[in-house]
Amino acid sequence: MDKAKTEPTFYVRDIPVYGDVILAPMAGFSDVPYRALCRAYGSAMHYTEFVPAETLLVQPNPLWRRLDIKAGEHPIVFQIFGNNAQKLLAAAQRIEAWQPDIIDINMGCSVHKISGRGAGVGMMPQPGLVADTFNLLSTHLSVPVTGKLRIGWDDRQRNFLEIARIMEDNGAALIALHGRTREQKYNVPADWDVIGELKQAVEIPVIGNGDVNCAADIDAMKAHTGCDAVMVGRAAVGNPWIFARRERQDVTLPEIIVTIKLHLEEMLDYYGDPKGLYLFRKHLRRYFKGLAVKPFLQKMLQTTDVSEFEHLLMIVEAKLLAA
Ligand SMILES: Cc1cc2nc3c(=O)[nH]c(=O)nc-3n(C[C@H](O)[C@H](O)[C@H](O)COP(=O)(O)O)c2cc1C
Repeated sequence: MDKAKTEPTFYVRDIPVYGDVILAPMAGFSDVPYRALCRAYGSAMHYTEFVPAETLLVQPNPLWRRLDIKAGEHPIVFQIFGNNAQKLLAAAQRIEAWQPDIIDINMGCSVHKISGRGAGVGMMPQPGLVADTFNLLSTHLSVPVTGKLRIGWDDRQRNFLEIARIMEDNGAALIALHGRTREQKYNVPADWDVIGELKQAVEIPVIGNGDVNCAADIDAMKAHTGCDAVMVGRAAVGNPWIFARRERQDVTLPEIIVTIKLHLEEMLDYYGDPKGLYLFRKHLRRYFKGLAVKPFLQKMLQTTDVSEFEHLLMIVEAKLLAA
């Protein structure tokens, strides 16, 4: 058996993580069904989609699905965001009752309505808020507390090292770093040098993130930065094989079809019919990216009937295999 699976690759305080490739939290994508699939292909740890602290303090929580997990899904990191340390603590305490392994503070979201209110990456220009948040959470919670950040607000405020040291001094157990500033959003290539700088600067484990676009990039990022694990976001959509370190072009058509069926089944089991089918559409586009399936893809994206979808999939499979 693979050594990585029998011995922990690293620990988040006392939580062992077996493996070094991790599905990134992605609102709208990294839900229970997709996490189950990625786990089966080798993703070592999962994050829930992020949830504002405030919604956890109201009953009923309108975003409860984002914090739902599958039985046995471990290690699981529950991710929240906010701009108030006391509210983040109250939200985290509520989450603790659901037995997460780890609670994570999102300090990377660049969306204006979040960062502009001082949450997400908007926490990074507020070192006092970061200190208070990690101090409060790490002293009041029994589970490890971690954070996911960017390089900083903009090129003038690249303060990830200052924030990381504050986090570590206040009890953080792991840092995930996305190698871009808020201002850069996704518009420039991710900077991997900063991940190496962070790894040199802190004792706690570091997860590197940003532009791991293919399987070879996993080991390239590890070699470049020395990070403990690599987090894959956009390149994992329609491509769970990346967690098995397989290049997408080496995945055969029958394998793609089998995975589409498996993923759809997970979606229908979890969301029901037809909601599972609707929510599967965005994944389908990505599974079929680059394949000559256009007229069928359009029909598959439009149908509201699972049997019709499966029939179309059969035709596509036959056509592609005959081509
Ligand atoms: C659609 C989408 C949703 C995202 N949602 C979250 C989220 O809920 N929490 C979070 O920390 N980051 C979120 N991110 C950021 C990713 O976790 C990751 O940091 C970013 O995509 C860079 O990694 P990549 O180059 O591998 O995609 C999201 C990204 C995308 C594209």
